[in-house]
Amino acid sequence: MSIMKELNNDIEKIVEQAGYKVENFSLQPSGRRDLGQFQLNDAMNLAKVYKKAPRMIAEDIVKELEKDNKFTNLNIAGPGFINITLTDEYLGSLLTKIYNDKNNNIDKREKKTVVIDYGGANVAKALHVGHLRSANIGEALKRLAKLLGYEVVGDAHLGDYGRPLGLVVLEIKKRYPDLPYFDENYTGDYTEITLPVTNKDLEEIYPFASNKSKEDEKYLEEARDITFKIQNHERGYYDLWKKVVEISKADIKTVYDMLNVEFELWLGESDAAEYVGELTNIFEEKHALVESEGALIVDVKEESDKAPMPPLLFKRSNGTISYETTDLATILQRKKEINPDEIWYCVDARQELHFEQVFRATKKVGLVSDQVNLEFIGFGTMNGKDGKPFKTRDGGVMRLKGLIDLVEAETKKRINKETVEEEKQEEVAKTVAIAALKYADLLPFRGTDYIFDPEKFSDLEGKTGPYLLYSTIRMKSLLNKGENLEIGEITKFKTETEKDLALTILRLPSILNKALDSRSLNDITEYIYKLTSLYNTFYAENKILTEEDQELQKSWLTLTKIVYDINMMLLDVLAIKVPEKM
Ligand code: ARG
Repeated sequence: MSIMKELNNDIEKIVEQAGYKVENFSLQPSGRRDLGQFQLNDAMNLAKVYKKAPRMIAEDIVKELEKDNKFTNLNIAGPGFINITLTDEYLGSLLTKIYNDKNNNIDKREKKTVVIDYGGANVAKALHVGHLRSANIGEALKRLAKLLGYEVVGDAHLGDYGRPLGLVVLEIKKRYPDLPYFDENYTGDYTEITLPVTNKDLEEIYPFASNKSKEDEKYLEEARDITFKIQNHERGYYDLWKKVVEISKADIKTVYDMLNVEFELWLGESDAAEYVGELTNIFEEKHALVESEGALIVDVKEESDKAPMPPLLFKRSNGTISYETTDLATILQRKKEINPDEIWYCVDARQELHFEQVFRATKKVGLVSDQVNLEFIGFGTMNGKDGKPFKTRDGGVMRLKGLIDLVEAETKKRINKETVEEEKQEEVAKTVAIAALKYADLLPFRGTDYIFDPEKFSDLEGKTGPYLLYSTIRMKSLLNKGENLEIGEITKFKTETEKDLALTILRLPSILNKALDSRSLNDITEYIYKLTSLYNTFYAENKILTEEDQELQKSWLTLTKIVYDINMMLLDVLAIKVPEKM
């Protein structure tokens, strides 16, 4: 349990000793630091319960608090707001405990198993901005949930089974009709064939085939047919599909690596295919499938619907399964293989209807128990300066790699060429670029759209990744320089800045919990900025390494180490790496 929570419980008990019981007792940080560090506003509510003037109640509580020498400057403002300040000695001792064990500044939760679905990159297609947001937010939520005690399994859930793959395989067939995959008489081993297609080619083939299918009805028909063949494991086509997936997956992995995104599971839509039979049986038993123009659909309307709710498409008339059915089969698969308490989908907000349909169909047939929480965690769009989804200069979809390059061009300009060795500059610029991009991506509430501005994201001042990296590296360098000095205890404060810093440190557990509750990282990104800029004010106010008062110097170094550790921990939650120098 965090020491802040302990303090909260201690004060709750003191209030009880004064004769009052407060529901959901919670000590608040003071909005008026001139009056105190914390405030207790419960006297007003207690007045109604105990039929007493709030001021009298406040006085009773203060009298009780005064018996405890942890507190100082206890006062009552207005009709009965109690202001509480901790003595320097006590505040220092709390921080010393945090220095000794960071678990003293975290409130763990009851263990549960959560699957997070936050990849969604599509095989044979380049990753784009939407995949960036899913990866950034999902990875950070996963790390946060783990930090707070959940068992979390992240799944890449690659898009590897739909028509795009049918199109790609068809186009390969058109270009290389003589490949053994298309030879009905071939009896050899398909894995030994070298495909004359690289990942780069795939990224050209898909848009080509997709455009062609829009103009050429016959071509589209052929692609449908091949999609069906792949989904039915037809020899040759299925083997070529496997090869394409393998090539593309290797490239997708390098992009996720670059973003510090690590999936526990690298499954794809195709891996759920083996559950479609069982899934269909379940839906049939519950009489949930309805025939409509040769297709099978599920009615997912509910009485309380205010907007129209279209039926879920279960199976197309040509026999191929839909994106919805793949997600349903994946739920069945996850239930059987992992049996999670919750499944979170970190996907573009524009897919909300899709997930609403999937969740309703799941509920309708009882695919998982009612206790299992299926949650759609939608995010907003990254826009260009024109307020529309960010595009390339010629109006195309921006590839994720291209986006990273744009930021890197900016961070490269700001690398300190004197401190960073020449051969390392490129790598450092990349690390900083990823930090810039990620921090900017996690700064607004996840549902909010924001504007892509590589110059602003890369600034060394302000709410940016580079500012945080730079400041954290400086803390580390100070600690290195002072490594022979005494550290490990906080017994003294010189200014209010240091106390503000200490109080901000104590707020960490509530920030972490708030972020997990809202499934958004914005509270953490704001907090780390606040903590860091407060630290930098303190750093500018004092000469830590040459301070003559040893007690004070020790306290300052200890404070520095705590802030440094929190920054490292939070940057790790955000999946941001810190270079040695920059
Ligand atoms: N591949 C999909 C896309 O690019 C995203 C998949 C999201 N996850 C899911 N379980 N449907 O749009």
